Amino acid sequence: MVAITFIAADGAERTIDASEDLSLMENAVGNGIEAIEAVCSGNAYCGTCRVYVDAAWQGRLGEAGDIELPMIEASGDETPGVRLSCQIVVTPDLDGLVVRTPASQG
Ligand code: FES
Repeated sequence: MVAITFIAADGAERTIDASEDLSLMENAVGNGIEAIEAVCSGNAYCGTCRVYVDAAWQGRLGEAGDIELPMIEASGDETPGVRLSCQIVVTPDLDGLVVRTPASQG
């Protein structure tokens, strides 16, 4: 089990049992996390799968890559830890990951 906790803008928490080798976005959508809209289905051009990685995890996940950065910048979202969840592949190392979701997506 790769337990990943999503915290909505209103503070509601939900922990899912994520599947390895799928993206964080795919796991969120598959588990009914409503704040992850994922309009472009994971192609890094809609920005509606944004999450804010908990500070304790930011170093472990690293920074957004070249595919993500243009979309994040275009979204205008400068929240610390912002990432596109479609570009994060779930691995066993992510067990315990905590991410928040933006109000604008929920
Ligand atoms: Fe569209 Fe991630 S699903 S950018």
